[in-house]
Amino acid sequence: MSFHDQIERRRTFGIISHPDAGKTTLTEKLLLFGGAIQEAGAVKSNKIKKTATSDFMEIERQRGISVATSVLAFIYRDKKINILDTPGHKDFAEDTFRTLTAVDSVIVVVDVAKGVEEQTVKLVEVCRMRNIPIIVFINKLDREGKDAFDLLDDLEQKLGLSVTPLSFPIGMGYDFKGIYNIYEKNINLFSGDSKKNIEDTIAFDDIENSELDDIIGVSAAEELRDNLELVNGVYPSFDKESYLLGEQQPVFFGSALNNFGVRELLDCFIEIAPSPRAKMAEERLVEADEKELTGFVFKIHANMDPKHRDRLAFVKIVSGTFERNKPYLHVRHGKNLKFSSPNAFFAEKKEIVDISYPGDIVGLHDTGHFKIGDTLTEGEQLNYKGIPSFSPEHFRYINNADPMKSKQLHKGIDQLMDEGVAQLFTLEMNGRKVIGTVGALQFEVIQYRLEHEYGAKCTYENFPVHKACWVDPEDEKNEEFKEFKRVKQRFLAKDKREQLVFLADSQFSLQMTQQKYPSVNLYFTSEFK
Ligand code: G4P
Repeated sequence: MSFHDQIERRRTFGIISHPDAGKTTLTEKLLLFGGAIQEAGAVKSNKIKKTATSDFMEIERQRGISVATSVLAFIYRDKKINILDTPGHKDFAEDTFRTLTAVDSVIVVVDVAKGVEEQTVKLVEVCRMRNIPIIVFINKLDREGKDAFDLLDDLEQKLGLSVTPLSFPIGMGYDFKGIYNIYEKNINLFSGDSKKNIEDTIAFDDIENSELDDIIGVSAAEELRDNLELVNGVYPSFDKESYLLGEQQPVFFGSALNNFGVRELLDCFIEIAPSPRAKMAEERLVEADEKELTGFVFKIHANMDPKHRDRLAFVKIVSGTFERNKPYLHVRHGKNLKFSSPNAFFAEKKEIVDISYPGDIVGLHDTGHFKIGDTLTEGEQLNYKGIPSFSPEHFRYINNADPMKSKQLHKGIDQLMDEGVAQLFTLEMNGRKVIGTVGALQFEVIQYRLEHEYGAKCTYENFPVHKACWVDPEDEKNEEFKEFKRVKQRFLAKDKREQLVFLADSQFSLQMTQQKYPSVNLYFTSEFK
């Protein structure tokens, strides 16, 4: 197969949802279609369940599962599908944001009864910032839920999407009869038996045909006709270009648990979803079909066994091919590195591969060379745009609890931050270190890992911060910025990239600061340029 065909056949995407909407179940059903697993229940949820906070081994065990399910690859109708898993737990949202830098499209799962939920809003916002093509799957149609039109409204209002339904439910919950597939023009009847549903479709391109009444009953047929007329009148017809530009989002309905509407989703997905796309580096736009390798690290996972301090760096290949034992330039270090055992992922296994293509993810064993965002090339001085940091939600001073181990503590903190476990801020005034995390759970993870992997001990101390804001003055030399720095000295810090950050202690002080120093721009994400 030619290099071009290899790129064309790849679909690398992520499934995102609020916890419990059905992401794991849908992933599993997709793998079943791909023949990558044989039975339901084979994919373990990588949900970090906060059962007992003191049960660190449990956290570690669950982190192990999340390595195994980091990338799930399979072949379906000759397409190579790479699903990048995203942790559902909100304390690990930062991981999900980073994974979204490595996907070419996403499927958003929404629970029919709950509609759009908080986590979905945040994740979709990130996708929209990056114009990632989105398909929405409304799940759990076998249960009583919201009206389909209300849900479509919800998607538009709360997520700011421009939706167009490609399938439409016939009834819902107790009365759920099936789905009309607008895209394929057929009806899929629901029997509640997940095995039976896979092939059970009836071609139906003219819904005015009276046979419809015989199949689903007169009143359901009338209702479906009315609904489809409304869909036609209200929503634009599907336009692949708009979808690819992130300007239109097709919506499917179904039930992952019952394997219903999933094949339709997958068949449409492989047809319309993008193959690996060009990616912007700081220097230039890189096309996927360029011959030379470029790629970037979007995730680092530490080994769970403290005796083996190596880590697995996940690299998304943007262009060219990645070959085993070939030297590649680690641009930030200016060093050539060779990898004798790059891992590729297939279903739930990882195995050593000789060659990988754009869209693929390779796992590289690393002894501390990599940090998130690093770029690999064949010699070109190229840097993929940094992976954004968002303002953490929780902040604490980190103190050394064992003065004999301060070297270990610093090394540990450094490496954990490289992995993206949390963010480190160093106060300008006194050099004290503040850790910022998305969820409280990370503080426990950090303390535990510092002790078990680095032999260092730490304690925390509260540091009340409302939001971290990245500072971007219009003019570094003007009086206003100088005054801002002087007056706000106590609240200023540097992040790991030496960018200036203002740690606002309350919403009120943030507003006052913005009013008083209008030429000093404050951003909630590190990627504002
Ligand atoms: P997540 O990864 O998004 O967090 O969700 P997950 O797939 O784990 O699904 C959450 C719960 O919703 C699970 O039930 C799952 O069985 C159920 N579910 C998923 N899809 C459907 C569907 O189409 N219809 C119905 N009725 N339920 C669905 P659970 O009881 O929490 O877990 P389990 O004991 O079934 O594993």
